[in-house]
Amino acid sequence: MKKHLNKISKTSALLDKRGWAEANAGNISLRIGNISNNYYKKYQLGELKNFQKTFTHLSNQVIIVTGAGTRMRDVKRKPERYLFILKINEAGNMFQQIISNKTNKNLKPTSELISHLYIHNMLLANKREERSIVHTHPANLIALSHIQKFCNQDAINNLLWSIQPETVVLANEGIAFIPYQLTGSEKLAIETTKALEKHRVALWEKHGCIAIGKSPEKAFDLIDVLEKSAFIFFIYKNAGYNVEGINDIKQKKMRRHFKI
Ligand code: 13P
Ligand code: ZN
Repeated sequence: MKKHLNKISKTSALLDKRGWAEANAGNISLRIGNISNNYYKKYQLGELKNFQKTFTHLSNQVIIVTGAGTRMRDVKRKPERYLFILKINEAGNMFQQIISNKTNKNLKPTSELISHLYIHNMLLANKREERSIVHTHPANLIALSHIQKFCNQDAINNLLWSIQPETVVLANEGIAFIPYQLTGSEKLAIETTKALEKHRVALWEKHGCIAIGKSPEKAFDLIDVLEKSAFIFFIYKNAGYNVEGINDIKQKKMRRHFKI
């Protein structure tokens, strides 16, 4: 279990270092799968709680999530204390907290749990390789989502790809754009899950980013490269320039070269 907790704390440290984690901003989850019952002998299990929803593909899954209201800088320091380990029941509609002697029993799972559950359920249903979800608040991408002309998928991707080759190569299917929805709502979870069937990263209008990856760090990388494009955009804008960027022909050539 420790190695899984450490994977999350390593990424929470990166979010903190990037300055995307003001107060309790952001949340992370990592699905560690269906662990044998023997494993729980050294742990206690908390009371059974209802999801008010059935996630059939999450039957018997164990998922680690950051606690509601926790700071990324605290997760980095004390992962056992600020991470919540959920063991989901056979039916996929209830969960228990897996408790060790370092666990904070007052901790609640992230307020965005509904999005994490919907997405993990979809990833398993579609036999996808991603097991991690990172939600964070990168300032430059959020700023772009306040500008009307970039509040559509084609416009924002054409801009971000035109800024640096890395974005074309690493984020080749682009970022999904999710129009504003209430934080922590099921509607946000449903819209995001639909979008992530064809993407690995989505931008929540006027809120932040959510990405999936094989590991939390892979999901972080994807947001990092997109945020860098947005950052460069504001640098040249602030310097008073409108630039052409990498044009369509050059982008197409790059895609052919990297077979993407
Ligand atoms: P939590 O602290 O509940 O995870 O919320 C942080 C956040 O970013 C909500 O969108
Ligand atoms: Zn958020």
